[in-house]
Amino acid sequence: MVNKPTAKSIQGYGAGGVDVVMSVDEVAHAAAHISAKAPPIKKLETLAKNDDFLQIDDLCAGYGKMEILHHFSLRVGRGQSLCLIGPNGAGKSTVLHSIFGFTNIFSGKISIDGRDVTKLKPSEKLLHAGIAYILQDKSVFPQMSVEENLLMGGFLKQRPKEAKRAAERIFDRYTRLADRRHQPAGVLSGGERRLLEISRALVMSPKVLLVDEPSIGLEPRFIDMVFGILEDLQKNEGKTIIMVEQNAKKGLDFADIGYVLVSGATSLADKGNRLLKNPDVGRLFLGG
Ligand SMILES: Nc1ncnc2c1ncn2[C@@H]1O[C@H](COP(=O)(O)OP(=O)(O)OP(=O)(O)O)[C@@H](O)[C@H]1O
Ligand SMILES: [Mg+2]
Repeated sequence: MVNKPTAKSIQGYGAGGVDVVMSVDEVAHAAAHISAKAPPIKKLETLAKNDDFLQIDDLCAGYGKMEILHHFSLRVGRGQSLCLIGPNGAGKSTVLHSIFGFTNIFSGKISIDGRDVTKLKPSEKLLHAGIAYILQDKSVFPQMSVEENLLMGGFLKQRPKEAKRAAERIFDRYTRLADRRHQPAGVLSGGERRLLEISRALVMSPKVLLVDEPSIGLEPRFIDMVFGILEDLQKNEGKTIIMVEQNAKKGLDFADIGYVLVSGATSLADKGNRLLKNPDVGRLFLGG
């Protein structure tokens, strides 16, 4: 598909490479009207199959003194996946940052498996609460080997041997990485690099994966590969996944649950495949 450079062409929404008829500002403005009020907590609980494995309640959080998320709540059951979509600047990444401990939390609570983790530092989240945040884009060290990059994911482990064992399990699982373990990571393709970024988080054996825009910058065949890997981690390894995805079609198709975030609050929540069929979502985020 050819992406004509029109003034109203938006990169990132929909399946990519489509011309849409609204500007980013117009999307944000229209999105604010798709639901008059936030979905009730009962609805969020039902979507999570009444398993409050990961629970965010009434969270107000932001950067410095600026509040970005306003009374945000979320529920995701163990082994489920949830995708956040919404206009640029809505606060999607800030939700992930807050779960991992990168924001200022003014009020509200985050708990995992019944444990209050609201105030834990990122290193504690990774080591003690089983939460991993998958950094992307340039987080791979190009001069270091694939294996060295992978082992860095285990830097918090007290025993280096454990990290080594975890790395071996990953190499067994993903031969694409094993084949290149001694080569510098700089030679990896975009898709393989994303696989390395995801795998590095797996060295700590997390229960929850926070993934920000797994498809960004990837060509379609690599996007499918990355979603295939995430599906494997959810379905076969029982990981709970919370992702942000500009490619709303892919993200909602993948995830059990979808939330539409607008101006720091949830305006719609439903099963991922039901949101895909929602005409407002289609118009605003799927390019038609
Ligand atoms: N580290 C930061 N310090 C200060 N403000 C920030 C920081 N990160 C994000 N913001 C602000 O918080 C708001 C929400 O940003 P966020 O990155 O969460 O949006 P987003 O929904 O992920 O958008 P995008 O789709 O563009 O990635 C924006 O106004 C942004 O400028
Ligand atoms: Mg973001």
